[in-house]
Amino acid sequence: MATVYLNDTFLPAEQAKVSVYDRGFLFGDGVYEVIPVYARQPFRLRAHLSRLQNSLDGIHLNNPFDDMQWTQLITQLIEQNEGDNQAVYLQVTRGVAPREHVFPEGVKPTVFMMSNPLNAVPESYRKHGIKAITVDDIRWQRCDIKAIALLPNTMMRQQAHEHGAGEAILIRDGVMTEGSASNSYAVFDGVIYTAAKDNTVLPGITRDFVLELAMAANIPVREEPVKADRLTQADEIWISSSTRELLAVTTLDDQPVGQGEPGPLWQKLNELYQRHKLETSI
Ligand code: PDD
Repeated sequence: MATVYLNDTFLPAEQAKVSVYDRGFLFGDGVYEVIPVYARQPFRLRAHLSRLQNSLDGIHLNNPFDDMQWTQLITQLIEQNEGDNQAVYLQVTRGVAPREHVFPEGVKPTVFMMSNPLNAVPESYRKHGIKAITVDDIRWQRCDIKAIALLPNTMMRQQAHEHGAGEAILIRDGVMTEGSASNSYAVFDGVIYTAAKDNTVLPGITRDFVLELAMAANIPVREEPVKADRLTQADEIWISSSTRELLAVTTLDDQPVGQGEPGPLWQKLNELYQRHKLETSI
């Protein structure tokens, strides 16, 4: 039975209950993190906690814990759940208050954490890549905040799913921003392009890792937008996230990307990713 954490208590998932007046439920008023755990060690925990702080600052909510307390709680959650590889999900909402748009004062935030199995990426995805479609990025102007209000993301992802695709690549103002639940990259002539970390994308922890690996391997990286109409000429397109690691997009809008198979730079980066991911916990 999965053990979760809710408001100062570890308990079986079935027993965890949240008020219908929770602002997370009524307004989507909260932020979250997804932290991969390899061999029972959280991957880049410090970076995730720092992004959590930025998200909380972004919605003007005090952090209920310092990094040491978060680390202890996350360590306990991992210990209390099975599986070497886990995906720790944590969310902080503005808490329980009568429904009123203005932020309530003196309310304790709701803190919820669960751990799901971190399912290995299917071998066929690594071998052949995934399909994606491009869609209009219908999100707000603060995509740098990891907000729990994910309705646009779920709608865009559903659109991809109904098209038989595994991800939606988002286009805003004529350029690629990211995926519905991932960062995105395009390769042209041996150079990796990915959107800069601004308000139009989530600053992915996996993205930082991928770019560090690329730079260490002397593969040139440019953090600048790729025009949507150039995507058909990309040699390679990739997505990355904590749960899907680095995947090649080999079909975009029903057309093959490059040769229609994961390209050589993806092969290289994925190999480095797999080799180094266990060394970079905390
Ligand atoms: N999503 N961009 C968006 C919109 C995301 O939702 C995510 C991750 C990323 C990648 O961030 P990271 O590399 O830190 O996982 C980029 C998580 C996994 C989710 O919502 O489940």
